[in-house]
Amino acid sequence: MRILIIGSGGREHALVWKLAQNPRVSKLYCAPGNPGIALHAELLPLRADDLAGIADFASGEAIDLTVVGPEQPLADGIVNLFQERGLTIFGPTREASALEWSKVFAKEFMKRHNIPTGGFEKFAAGETQDAREYIEACTPPIVLKADGLAAGKGVLVCVERREAQAGLKQLMEAKAFGEAGTTVVIEEYLTGVEASVFAVCDGRYFVTLCPAQDHKRAYDGDQGKNTGGMGAYAPTPFVTPEIMDVVRHKIVQPTLRGMASEGRPYGGCLYVGLMLTQDGPKVVEFNARFGDPEAQVVLPLYDGDFAGLLYDAARGNLADAAGQFNRRRHVGNAVCVVVASKGYPDSYRKGLEITGLQSLEDEEGITVFHAGTSLKEGTLVSSGGRVLGVTAMVREGSLGDAIGRAYEAVAAISFDGMHYRRDIGRKGLME
Ligand code: AMP
Ligand code: GLY
Repeated sequence: MRILIIGSGGREHALVWKLAQNPRVSKLYCAPGNPGIALHAELLPLRADDLAGIADFASGEAIDLTVVGPEQPLADGIVNLFQERGLTIFGPTREASALEWSKVFAKEFMKRHNIPTGGFEKFAAGETQDAREYIEACTPPIVLKADGLAAGKGVLVCVERREAQAGLKQLMEAKAFGEAGTTVVIEEYLTGVEASVFAVCDGRYFVTLCPAQDHKRAYDGDQGKNTGGMGAYAPTPFVTPEIMDVVRHKIVQPTLRGMASEGRPYGGCLYVGLMLTQDGPKVVEFNARFGDPEAQVVLPLYDGDFAGLLYDAARGNLADAAGQFNRRRHVGNAVCVVVASKGYPDSYRKGLEITGLQSLEDEEGITVFHAGTSLKEGTLVSSGGRVLGVTAMVREGSLGDAIGRAYEAVAAISFDGMHYRRDIGRKGLME
């Protein structure tokens, strides 16, 4: 199988790394990729937003399967374009990926199909006054969300009404997220433990992967700002087999049925961001792709033919795999510690020299996924806020063992101002 991966972060490195181990995969390309991905795939000088260029490459080079990493090309319709051209691609169409790119669509869809989620109201441009009054009537904390894609930054969790009013102004009037924020959703605040479940879907059938837990806040003890994710571990004990059954039957299945019935069949990875509340699991958000850094722990644990799984999903042939639903498909424990640049998620420096990776190359069970790196005159330097995902996987050992191994590996790495959380996975030990 000849496979092309789109994207350039830690998630895409994990995809390429996993697929490179598959004996059915004969050639891997990545557009545009990064220096870590270059160890396993041929990098193409194509940007992720060059949809026509990517489709031309896939048809010219007889690519059997294209896998889309990030959300933007999905929202831009890369899957629609490939399908029109008869090319096989893993990911949802523009219409199906509205579950991620429109919070309003996602919330109204869940309401229509009785999928458990927090209550909400939406306010369009011009309804700012109504939104202000609504906030005054709410009991804090109050959750505000920009309707469109905002790189994970369009969510404000406000502990006071005053803060919510200021946030509303930022979104609707100052357009802090451009057009993404002119329509807002004001949502019920949910309490509980958060977890992430990926369902690989073919439009009708699905296979769920090992449940994971992300760490969204920048600092230890879940302090500081929300980020793209500072680390993850899997499996998470919070998602018990019983909860997983609820997620499958009350969330994923009705979502696939509902999307198909509305003429937007969902293929690709459905990322279910969950809050495990006292009333059962509820959806905090849907994403239309694998989560990052969760992919960096979920994929290494997948025990099976991952290329085949994605291919079957892309071809609408998951019925057999989905029939084996309850078979355990993961082994061991994995922990990923994200090493970030000082200042992230606000402004940070780039171009800082990274050292220590060579000493980890032969470490059994350790993989350093590149998230924001580049080569400058042959030297590896940082090029993003999240720089590396240092992942430890133990097949036989416990979560505690995996945490210990991951932090040993992190200690070998250094660059100026490197920042990481020291408590990744700790919650899982307390359960
Ligand atoms: P999102 O981008 O929608 O996942 O939101 C980012 C983070 O904000 C989530 O991971 C939660 O920690 C928090 N959050 C979002 N919506 C809610 C909600 N309704 N109740 C409580 N926390 C939320
Ligand atoms: N880790 C959260 C996300 O991928 O959106």
